[in-house]
Amino acid sequence: MHTTVGIIGGGPAGLLLARLLYRAGIDCVVLESQDRTYVEQRQRAGILEQATVDALREAGAARRLDAEGLVHDGIELRWDGRAHRIDFPSLTGGRRVWVYAQTEVVKDLIALQLADGSPLHFGARVTAVEGADTDRPTVHYTHEGRNAELTCDYVVGCDGFHGVTRTAVPADVRRTYERTYPYSWFGILADVPPSCDELVYAHSPRGFALHSMRSPEVSRLYLQVPNGTDPADWPDTRIWDELDARFAVEGDWKLRRGPITSKSVVPIRSSVTEPMRYGRVLLAGDAAHIVPPTGAKGLNLAAADVVVLARALVRKQRTGSADLLDSYSDTCLRRVWRAEHFSYFMTTTLHTDPEQTGFDTRLQISQLDRIAASPHAEAELAQNYTGLPLP
Ligand code: FAD
Ligand code: DHB
Repeated sequence: MHTTVGIIGGGPAGLLLARLLYRAGIDCVVLESQDRTYVEQRQRAGILEQATVDALREAGAARRLDAEGLVHDGIELRWDGRAHRIDFPSLTGGRRVWVYAQTEVVKDLIALQLADGSPLHFGARVTAVEGADTDRPTVHYTHEGRNAELTCDYVVGCDGFHGVTRTAVPADVRRTYERTYPYSWFGILADVPPSCDELVYAHSPRGFALHSMRSPEVSRLYLQVPNGTDPADWPDTRIWDELDARFAVEGDWKLRRGPITSKSVVPIRSSVTEPMRYGRVLLAGDAAHIVPPTGAKGLNLAAADVVVLARALVRKQRTGSADLLDSYSDTCLRRVWRAEHFSYFMTTTLHTDPEQTGFDTRLQISQLDRIAASPHAEAELAQNYTGLPLP
C-alpha cells in the first residue's frame, strides 16, 4: 500500500493533521496502535489556546467545541493565603482560552475522520520506519495479527513520547534535551460542580494544587505528590482534605466535595528532540517534545506543529516548493522552547521541591508578589498562557 503522508499515531496531533490534509485534498493514512475506546477515554489535557481553537475551526472540527466549550478570560493564582486574578483579554489584546477536554477533541476528530476522511486504522502498531533519507520511506506495522507495510512520500511521527518514529532519525543526528522533576501530578475527576469560575493554581507549603473543570457538573483537580505515589494510598477523604489545605485562602471560599470517578498519577518531565525533521520523516507533538503540564501547553504545541506542517505539505503538493518543509523544524522549535521555558517557570514557581530551602520559598513568594504587583509581569504570564499567535 502507498500513500502521500503516512501518519503514525491517532492522538490529537495525528488526527488534526489528517483532517487538515484531507480538507486540502492530500491523501494520508493514520495508523494507531490502540483501539478507539482507549484513545477516546484517555484523560489528559483540558485547556485549549486561542490558536488551537482557530486550527480546529479551520479544520471544520469545532462545532461541539463552540457549543459546549467553556470560554475562560482568566486564571487565579493563590499563595500565602492570598488570591490574585489574571485577566487575559486586557493583557493580551483580547486572547482567551477554552476549557474543552482532550477526550472531546479526539472524539470529534475521530467521528469526522470515520464519517468522511482518509483511512484511520485502530489496532495498527508501527514497529519500524525505514528509509527516512530515501524518496519512499516505509512504515512497518502489525494489524489484525498480520505484518504489513505502508510506503509513503512523507512519514509523520505523531506517536507521542513513547513512540517509535523518533528512532528513524539516526542517533548521530538526533539530540535530546531533558529535565526530570522530583514530583508527579495526582489527577482526579469528580462529579461535583467546580468550586470556582476559573482555574485556580495554588502554591502552598504542602505543595502545588490545581482546580480545573470539565463541565459545569464535573471538576478536575490535581495535587503535587512525590514520584512513585500509588493512588491506592489516597482514599477520597485524604484527597479532599489535602486539596482543602492547599487551596486555603482568606475569605469564605469553600471547596465542594463529590464522588471521585477517576484517579491517576503522572510523572512530570521536559524533553525536546531536535531536529524535528530528517529527510522525509517529520516529528510532531509529544513525539518530539513534552512539557510539564503546569502551563497547559502540551496539546497546544502538538496542534501548532501540525498546523505548520500541514501548510508545508500543502505548499509542496501545490507548488513543488519544499521551502516550508525545510524550515519546519526551526519554525516549530522556536515555539517549543518558549513553551518549555514557560512550563518550567510555572512549575518551579508553584511546586515545592523536596530539597527546597526557606530561601527558595522566599524567591517563589517574591515572584508571585511581583506578578500581582506589576502589569508587565502579569502580561508576560498572560501572553504565554494564552499562547503566541502562529507564525
Ligand atoms: P499523544 O496524545 O500521546 O498521541 C500519540 C498516539 O500515538 C497515541 O494515541 C498512541 O497510542 C499512538 N502510538 C504510540 N506508539 C505507536 C505506535 N508504535 N504505532 C502506532 N501508534 C502509536 N496539554 C495541554 O495543552 N493542556 C493541558 O491542560 C494538558 N494537561 C495535561 C494533563 C495531563 C495529566 C497529561 C498527562 C498531559 C497533559 N497535557 C496537556 C499534554 C497533552 O495531553 C499531550 O501533549 C498531547 O496528548 C499530545 O498529543 P500527541 O497527539 O502529540 O500525542
Ligand atoms: C488542566 C491541565 C493542566 O495541565 C493545566 O495546566 C490546566 C488544566 C486540565 O486537565 O483541566
